[in-house]
Amino acid sequence: MHTSPKKKAKGVLAPSILNANFTNIEEEIELLVRAGVKWIHLDIMDGNFVPNITFGPSITKQIIELTQQNHWDLFFDAHLMTENPTFWAERFVEVGCNLITIHAEATHHLDRAVEYVKSLGVQVGVALNPSTPLENVEFVLPKVDLLLVMTVNPGFGGQSFIDIPTMYEKITRARKLCDKWECKLQVDGGVKLSNIGMLKQLGVDVFVVGSEIFASEDKQEKIRLLCKEIC
Ligand code: DX5
Ligand code: ZN
Repeated sequence: MHTSPKKKAKGVLAPSILNANFTNIEEEIELLVRAGVKWIHLDIMDGNFVPNITFGPSITKQIIELTQQNHWDLFFDAHLMTENPTFWAERFVEVGCNLITIHAEATHHLDRAVEYVKSLGVQVGVALNPSTPLENVEFVLPKVDLLLVMTVNPGFGGQSFIDIPTMYEKITRARKLCDKWECKLQVDGGVKLSNIGMLKQLGVDVFVVGSEIFASEDKQEKIRLLCKEIC
């Protein structure tokens, strides 16, 4: 029986608010919502796992509450670039995050940590730093909802995509693993209008974009152009 080629699923744009104007965060998020954004990527950094500190559970709580007061229906993905991921996972679930992504490099017992996050009743993701092999997460993929392949060294927005052949090989192999275990493939770091289409071709599902949006003169137009490439 002739089966039509598998229709490529639409990609999801996940703006990182790391580089947003936090003195005007409600307006910044409203702009994303008006542009059709449904998924917000929260970069949580503890100054230990990465050489930077961003925001914690209390600021996150205020952000989520303001979106609820505005009846903006958003999905909050907390990317924990922290030591002690299970401790922080609990705190970010308490304030309303929907998906918690922990770094494979941040725990000696990844399977136990993944099970713990799942026990909190939210979606769970595992993240890999650029030099960490896929093999480090292969045996937990059946349990996770998302695999995050870092395409910059974590800690800062505005960096350049690590544009080397092994990064593309990693993403391609990650796609095959995500097909096998039915989890989403997310990339994060240095994603721009210039490379997002190519990443979609490689099979990425969720695209974290920070500075490309927040450094733009016309954020809504930039979001429209990015979505055109992946949706
Ligand atoms: C880096 C963060 C990324 C980053 C994305 O550690 O995990 O989410 O903020 O920002 P851009 O898109 O500017 O690289
Ligand atoms: Zn991130």
